[in-house]
Amino acid sequence: MNDIIQKLNSSIINMDIKEAIQFLYNDHKDKVVFSSSLGMEDQVISHIIFTNNLSVKVFTLDTGRMFAETYAVLSKTIEKYNKEIKVYFPDNADIEKLMTEKGPFSFYYSVENRKECCNLRKIKPLKRALAGNEIWITGLRAEQSENRNNLNFIEWDEGNKIIKFNPLIHWTTEQIKEYIKINQIPYNILHDQGFPSIGCQPCTRKVNEGEDFRAGRWWWENNSKKECGLHS
Ligand code: ADX
Ligand code: SF4
Repeated sequence: MNDIIQKLNSSIINMDIKEAIQFLYNDHKDKVVFSSSLGMEDQVISHIIFTNNLSVKVFTLDTGRMFAETYAVLSKTIEKYNKEIKVYFPDNADIEKLMTEKGPFSFYYSVENRKECCNLRKIKPLKRALAGNEIWITGLRAEQSENRNNLNFIEWDEGNKIIKFNPLIHWTTEQIKEYIKINQIPYNILHDQGFPSIGCQPCTRKVNEGEDFRAGRWWWENNSKKECGLHS
């Protein structure tokens, strides 16, 4: 697999994002998916996919606990591009059981509970969304965290047994914001209110001046890696 990944990395290294996605699509046809959290990075990628009519499937995981502002981005994006964003929702039996047995805020009480909630609301639906696909496009960036700063454009995701393509891996926050401005891309207004990284509403807070990008995610946990398991 290493050889395939290396070869893919060198094939796309000099391509722009549109060309690289097209290249991957030509090789893998309808087995290419893009996961959008509707955050600023993902809005850049959606814009490139939609305005170039790239035949890549786009999906979002609605955990049931998103900010109202995030739903506003989903709505504006559908309106602007008139393209399909498939919404995956958690299994209703899972959430009924979780909420009945542990209440609506179990994730604050232990890392184990938090991982259970992330698993039911994000990871299980992600597995359904990725099933049968060969390429998974994400908006991961090196600058976002230490865990992410040695990622490459193309990576093998052993957990999900899929090739991951991170087209914005080397983009800075400034470049993302500039691109959004120039291209008038709909974005989450929370980004202007101190929220650089946005996940579920109860698990995301504002970051203070000088705090790092993901400081507002699961802020009450000190020793966990601040990852929900989508990108372990
Ligand atoms: S997370 O693991 O902490 O939740 P983050 O918010 O940084 O991830 O987003 C990184 C990438 O993961 C996004 O660019 C997107 O590809 C994917 N992602 C995260 N959350 C979602 C979501 N709710 N729906 C679809 N994709 C998501
Ligand atoms: Fe649950 Fe919080 Fe994880 Fe969202 S981020 S799935 S609310 S624990």
